[in-house]
Amino acid sequence: MESKINFVHQRARGAHPGYPSRFNVPDDKVSWNTEYNYKPVEYTRKLILLSLKDNNDPAKIKDLDKRLSYEQSPLKMDGFGRPLNPYGRTGMSGRGNLRYWGPNQAADAIVTKYIKEKNQLYMVAIKRRDTGEWAIPGGKVEPSENVIDTLKREFEEEAGNVEKSEKKEFQKIINELFSIKNGNLIYQGYVDDPRNTDNAWMESTVYNFHCSPEIADLLTLKAGDDASHVEWILIDDSLKNLYASHKMFVDKTIVNLKKLLAY
Ligand code: BGC
Repeated sequence: MESKINFVHQRARGAHPGYPSRFNVPDDKVSWNTEYNYKPVEYTRKLILLSLKDNNDPAKIKDLDKRLSYEQSPLKMDGFGRPLNPYGRTGMSGRGNLRYWGPNQAADAIVTKYIKEKNQLYMVAIKRRDTGEWAIPGGKVEPSENVIDTLKREFEEEAGNVEKSEKKEFQKIINELFSIKNGNLIYQGYVDDPRNTDNAWMESTVYNFHCSPEIADLLTLKAGDDASHVEWILIDDSLKNLYASHKMFVDKTIVNLKKLLAY
């Protein structure tokens, strides 16, 4: 399975509604190997500094360069002992709004259904509250949490905020659908996320869970938590802008499903 992205990160150099403006990094200056009179904007959100999830002083963290990354091991470090983004400059140093120095692990679920008569593929998408973009449901993997458990928890929070009476049915379907044997690993690695910095970045493990239209009909969807909307959206050529690297994940899923479903 391919785990690297083969383009120069874009969103990691772009704007984020909660961030100050970044130092400009043109495409040809992204690589750490290219000389550049570079003065990144130092920014770590106050709430992150106060949360103490990670030590604010990287020098106090043992084996910081050995943190789990699907991209690099050991991690390369900068002159201040902070991990260096493996995809290059972002125009910002510090941790921004990310909790951990270096890789911050997330997991995403692409839940699909195929309507044969219409030759149409749909997926469950949420609208993110922070950037207002459509995305696939997912979230951070808590320390010592298993990825499948993260996927169930996040899917339930963002897409299954249903009435108490509907909860049991929702969980039953999710427990059956979200299993390693039923899932296809689509991607594991760096995400071109607008929150990334030179010293902290998102990585994700992405699974596709494909279900029959009958099971899909039983799944009541209601947005909650970081999501303002949830719905089954048609995956066709008009689907262009999705959060971070989610469009790449969906494209990989389509290639996979085309083989599996022969459509
Ligand atoms: C989001 C995921 C996303 C990941 C990396 C997480 O916070 O919930 O959907 O893939 O960040 O961008």
